[in-house]
Amino acid sequence: MSNPLAGKEILLGVSGSIAAYKAVELASRLTKQGAIVSTILTDSAVKFVNPISFQSVTGQKAYIEADLWGSEGHVTHIGLGHKADFFAIAPASANTIAKLANGIADNLLTVTAIACHCPMLIAPAMDAGMFDHVATQSNVAILKERGVHFSGPMPGHLASGLVGVGRMSEPQDIHARIRYLLSKSGPLTGKKIMVTAGGTQEAIDPVRRITNRSSGKQGVAIAQAAADAGAEVTLIIAPHYLCLPDGIKIIDVVSAAEMHTAVMQHIPAQDVLIMSAAVADFRPIENETKIKKGKGIPQLVLEQTEDILLAVHQQKQKDNLDLKVIGFAAESDHLLEHASQKVQSKGLDMIVANDISKPNVGFSGDTNQVSLVLADGTIENYPLMQKSEVADLILQKIALWSS
Ligand code: CTP
Repeated sequence: MSNPLAGKEILLGVSGSIAAYKAVELASRLTKQGAIVSTILTDSAVKFVNPISFQSVTGQKAYIEADLWGSEGHVTHIGLGHKADFFAIAPASANTIAKLANGIADNLLTVTAIACHCPMLIAPAMDAGMFDHVATQSNVAILKERGVHFSGPMPGHLASGLVGVGRMSEPQDIHARIRYLLSKSGPLTGKKIMVTAGGTQEAIDPVRRITNRSSGKQGVAIAQAAADAGAEVTLIIAPHYLCLPDGIKIIDVVSAAEMHTAVMQHIPAQDVLIMSAAVADFRPIENETKIKKGKGIPQLVLEQTEDILLAVHQQKQKDNLDLKVIGFAAESDHLLEHASQKVQSKGLDMIVANDISKPNVGFSGDTNQVSLVLADGTIENYPLMQKSEVADLILQKIALWSS
């Protein structure tokens, strides 16, 4: 199961806007994910950003207006257009959007757009009044009608000093949208996969909470891999600081009780549940008012939370649900023994077990070392790998079950 950006030829069109400098970051992100990114800058874009910046981060040529009639001859645009798997125009000025909507091909960027037959994404950037203008709105509508995708513009501070809707989407969001748009026909197309991620937070009083060290990175990597494989993904996530994949349904929760409610509400529609969240096993009996320091050191009284996987197991049996369930086991001793026991007690199809006492394994970091324990007792041990690779391993298993 591979990242849909890997090996893809992406054309990045950059038009005249102060946001052009952000396009360098977009080019860099796409390149780091394995895409081959060629850039085309308009004359106005070159006033804001140097083509060498793009060449440096992509290792590919950044084309400027002179190249339309340059050493590669007068067919540069045809070559670029034919090889492109995806055309992203970021930032797109009001002028460039108007030309694209009306088939005007008077510079290398717009003539290449006409020569391209691949999916296109436009990230507008302009003053709010210009984006709001009836001419721009009707041009956007024409392009949307034609199947062109849009990212933004977003509300915020504009170059004019005003605040309004006109800022270019952030590079990470445009990147996530391109990745999503390229993932449409993966092996899990049509499957509904729900993932839980992060560490739940349990209130002590209106100010304080107890939580755990889970960052949510592994769960988000699984949600990304599932979306890359074409699945319809629902991510139920506890408070986090992560950049989330595009094109998935996100349900924010805080506590184990909220996660339990969200999971139970959505499982009837799912094909697969992956419980990678670190759910609190105990919660304090909450104080309705803030505990005051002057009253001495408080004693916390804990009560048990719902075991979500156990509840899912019971629901599955009661309603005869056709649902595959994958759990996680973070253990600090007797890893496989505990994991195998959880497969049985929680009625799982598979558990992903990791020994969190080992360096670079489990919480917070970008790597993990796992064993997969299957319902039939099979155990597969894997070396230390990136969390995205662990996500791929899990998705490969799901694809096998689905084939
Ligand atoms: N889990 C759950 N509900 C809980 C606690 C955990 O659904 N209240 C899920 C986790 O998301 C994970 C699996 O159960 O997929 C195993 O979690 P883990 O914390 O390792 O096991 P516990 O059942 O909580 O048992 P223990 O903490 O005693 O190891």
